[in-house]
Amino acid sequence: MKKITCILVFFLCACLSAWSAEDIHLIHGPYLQNLTANEVTIVWIADKPSVGWVELAPDGDDSFYSTERSKFFDSRCGVKNTSTVHVVQLKGLQPNTRYRYRVYAQEVLEHKSNHVIYGNVAATDVYSKKPLSFKTCNTNASSISFAMVNDIHGRNDVLSTLISKCDLKNTDFFIFNGDMVSIFNDEEQVFGGFMDTATKLFASQIPMYYTRGNHETRGTMATEFQRYFSPKQSNIYYTFRQGPIYFVILDTGEDKPDNDIEYAGITDYDNYRTEQADWLRGVLQSNEYKEAPFKIIVGHMPPENGWHGQREIMNKFVPLLNEAKPDLMLCGHLHLYRHDTPNNAIHFPIIVNSNNSVFQAEAIGNELKVKVTDVEGKELDKFTIQK
Ligand SMILES: [Fe+2]
Repeated sequence: MKKITCILVFFLCACLSAWSAEDIHLIHGPYLQNLTANEVTIVWIADKPSVGWVELAPDGDDSFYSTERSKFFDSRCGVKNTSTVHVVQLKGLQPNTRYRYRVYAQEVLEHKSNHVIYGNVAATDVYSKKPLSFKTCNTNASSISFAMVNDIHGRNDVLSTLISKCDLKNTDFFIFNGDMVSIFNDEEQVFGGFMDTATKLFASQIPMYYTRGNHETRGTMATEFQRYFSPKQSNIYYTFRQGPIYFVILDTGEDKPDNDIEYAGITDYDNYRTEQADWLRGVLQSNEYKEAPFKIIVGHMPPENGWHGQREIMNKFVPLLNEAKPDLMLCGHLHLYRHDTPNNAIHFPIIVNSNNSVFQAEAIGNELKVKVTDVEGKELDKFTIQK
């Protein structure tokens, strides 16, 4: 009997050791979300349920290993999250300041009652590579430069080509203006479709602000959108200020009526856009909006008297925007390039960027200089807004 018990114990130990020896990997990210002058959210994905944390260090030439770095855990209500998706919001940062960072995940093998068994650890490389870093916003800066792409629909090659048109050293941030994939069914679609490419090219160190398109509202994982993008914001419509520009990010929802057969009775976008219009009214009356030298509205679908969703934007958002006089509205969705000048119905210019072009803008002093380039490098548009 004693012999059998010993064999069993040995067998269990061997199993546990083999189990815990399995490596954990960071499979997507890290990437930056919702960077402001004082905050940033960092998102990364591990291949096993784990706890996660960020180590933060000031910028400098010293080794990341020169001292123990401050740790910020992925936690909620005081308990560390056991998950594959990790999110940490860093708060209380200094404006216009560069920070270095490293992200971690440690596998949670078992959590029963008040016993937790941990497995291996994975982290981003700070030994053979320069540590990742980001710079907080300088809202007093008189100049800023950014780029926008949209309607990529999972075409990594097009995304790479459009981003290659940008000088990354002089691009402060990117906007993804919706329909980056055609459907939100699983993580592989999202990361394989565009986000791994974005991370590889810039998104670990240059922030990306995401505007949801109508295609991200579709698929079995569509309700999980905010686990990955703007995860610490109250909503996925939000505002931010970069240099002299105040941005209002709208979520324009779906294009067809809520009762359309395609939505299987699961959508409620008319009420959502009404709720958003109430929020927008407050934003447009705020001092932050009014006092900003430039004001840009970003929404995936342009206002038009066409399909139901676009009519809703025309009826619910445009009257408020006409009164608030933004300098520009940036849209996508139509898969063509269009520069609409103000008219009787819409009192501000609208750029509808195509699915094959990159919109780049630079605010310098009282000028907003814009150029739009297609995948072949052909200049589609160039103009300056003078204040
Ligand atoms: Fe669209």
